Amino acid sequence: MQNKKTIITYGTYDMLHIGHMNLLERAKALGDYLIVGVTDENYDRSRGKLNVSQSTADRVKAIEALDFVDMVIVEKHKNQKAEDMVKYDVDIFAIGDDWVGAFDYLNEYTHVEYLPRTEGISSTKLRKENFDIIKMGIVGLGRDTQAFIDESGFVSSIKVNRIYANDFLELKAFTKEHKTIKYGHDNYDEFLDTSIEAVYIDTALEQHYTLIKRALEAGKHVLCENPLALDKGELKELLSLAKREKKLLLSALKTAFLPAFNQLLQELGTGVIGDIKEVRATRTSLYKEKDYADTFIQQGATNILSSYPSLLVNKILGKSKNITFFDQEEEGYDINNLIVTQHKNGALGISNVAIGMKSEGDAVISGTKGYAYIPAPWWLTKTFEFRFEDSHKSHTYKYEFEGCGLRYMIAEFSSLIQRGKRKSKMLSPSDMVGINRVLLEYNDSKKNKNKKEEEA
Ligand code: CTP
Repeated sequence: MQNKKTIITYGTYDMLHIGHMNLLERAKALGDYLIVGVTDENYDRSRGKLNVSQSTADRVKAIEALDFVDMVIVEKHKNQKAEDMVKYDVDIFAIGDDWVGAFDYLNEYTHVEYLPRTEGISSTKLRKENFDIIKMGIVGLGRDTQAFIDESGFVSSIKVNRIYANDFLELKAFTKEHKTIKYGHDNYDEFLDTSIEAVYIDTALEQHYTLIKRALEAGKHVLCENPLALDKGELKELLSLAKREKKLLLSALKTAFLPAFNQLLQELGTGVIGDIKEVRATRTSLYKEKDYADTFIQQGATNILSSYPSLLVNKILGKSKNITFFDQEEEGYDINNLIVTQHKNGALGISNVAIGMKSEGDAVISGTKGYAYIPAPWWLTKTFEFRFEDSHKSHTYKYEFEGCGLRYMIAEFSSLIQRGKRKSKMLSPSDMVGINRVLLEYNDSKKNKNKKEEEA
């Protein structure tokens, strides 16, 4: 008997359609055994495919259900195709002719065949037909406003066309300069009364709570810069309000949505470095007074920056039990803070944040078998390495990183709204509460210290 002929093909297969089915049938007809590689969501996002509507698991399930497909695998990174050719002893790599030439380099491993694509249908087209574009407004003229506008241009499901700011002159200058932002409002109620469905808040930190509350009460989904709230109880109150109003409230902690960051968490979950005993992360930034208002700097390093290391620590080790602060103060606010948190089974989180000192912004996750190293700036995760005592076993993961990273967060925010979801797996309400807890405890400890000093 002749050897079976193995065919392999890859794709996203979002909202499985007749074009996909035709292609897969054509591919199967080339041989006996058809392997389909479905792209992982983190890989898709890292190669700029930001608007996929179904999760990897749902897309895999849909392909598995097809009679003529024999095996489904998940494609996680760029070099995997060549590895798969060898691993599965592939005879033909088949792909639609929209890719002509793009995979010729694989001829080194197998025979590459470009098959005719079905005209008039695509996942992009189906997404456009099935999902409405979300109208969004910006609240404030903050540090990331410009970047947010630029990056939202890469997310096809969202349209940013309004802005609210309380400084009329600044607002006028801004709308004059930005042709896509057609409408400027200096009255928040009027702004909220328009047809926008969602807002992005980027204002002074102490205004966040009130602005979020009013937006949720007006029935808008909210994406807000960190931290969402500076006082105890406020974040939980806002999350309950969002739940009651059936709206999405998401913290704009961009690291949480980066493809490489999510891939790192996935890999750690497989136990690659054993039991995790310690997570260390540093985030420092030298804010210049000329660039940032005094009131911003006076919020101190912990309020401004701790959400980032707290994200890494909480995502890996879960909720913190005890929190200890070793802070350095100048002119009444912390310029440097070493935050030590204790977690389940005694694991330690060590976060260093500073605005009055510069340090190496890397992160190390230590386990019983080895450790993960994320080079600076770890919060813009592009690459990470698993290192072991036997250095031959060490391996590095590298991901593409487009723009300043905001587009991944904007894509997740809009995709959740479109799918009627009110929680992100990448940054759940309980993640947000855990992250916020660190700075709340710090603010509390500072208040108590000041009170004691006044009484003494
Ligand atoms: N395909 C096809 N005919 C179509 C659409 C896709 O033959 N009308 C093929 C592609 O060439 C590829 C496979 O189906 O080999 C998976 O493509 P994918 O990119 O997942 O589908 P698209 O509909 O092209 O998705 P998108 O619009 O998001 O790019």
